[in-house]
Amino acid sequence: MGTAHNNANKGDFAKTVLMPGDPLRAKYLAEHYLENVREVNNVRGMLGYTGTYKGKEVSIMGSGMGMPSIGIYSYELFTQYDVENIIRIGSAGSINKDVHIREVVIAQGACTDSAWAHQYELPGVYSAISSFDLLEKTVHQAKEKNIHYHVGNILSSDIFYHADSTSTAAWSKMGVLAVEMETYALFSTAAYLGKKALTLLTISDSLVNDEPETTASEREKTFTDMMEIALEIA
Ligand code: ADE
Repeated sequence: MGTAHNNANKGDFAKTVLMPGDPLRAKYLAEHYLENVREVNNVRGMLGYTGTYKGKEVSIMGSGMGMPSIGIYSYELFTQYDVENIIRIGSAGSINKDVHIREVVIAQGACTDSAWAHQYELPGVYSAISSFDLLEKTVHQAKEKNIHYHVGNILSSDIFYHADSTSTAAWSKMGVLAVEMETYALFSTAAYLGKKALTLLTISDSLVNDEPETTASEREKTFTDMMEIALEIA
């Protein structure tokens, strides 16, 4: 069994899958945090692993960049592998002056500039929101671990290199905290299929403050906070 994008067998994935964008980060996290870890997917290099954390089975797989990519992988995990919860662990650019580099943003909801929701043929605009159950547990964990965090709206954009550098200003004015490229599709897919999803982000760059971008090794370090929250709620 398997799909065009995933050569894992049914039963190879845990009920909860953590998804960083980068498959090599999935490999690193699986090897550093999980016990009894095994590789379950390697199609197109989109590495996926299953192991145990504190005795509980959990999977970690890359999502790739952008809504088409996470849309494919999350849909297949939910429908072909009986996955119940997907927690995206990614990075984002801040579009709020009070949200600084290396801080954690927990996505309560996601806006988008993409046409993703057109497929549902809704007579209006769909608001993609996180699972309140996962959100509540995450906030509890962040408090418990004394991690500085923000909870709020984010923007899932199709565009990384904007032709117009002011294009996020209107979103910022609406209180949107940060921009990334996957969550709207993840939350919508989960809602459509009656599953749960959450997104945890660390801020890697700021579009509004003059702060230096994080280096790869800094991202590695601050990623730990977020990873530990995700594993605890998995
Ligand atoms: N991910 C991290 N930084 C980003 C940015 N500035 N725009 C979109 N996605 C991002």
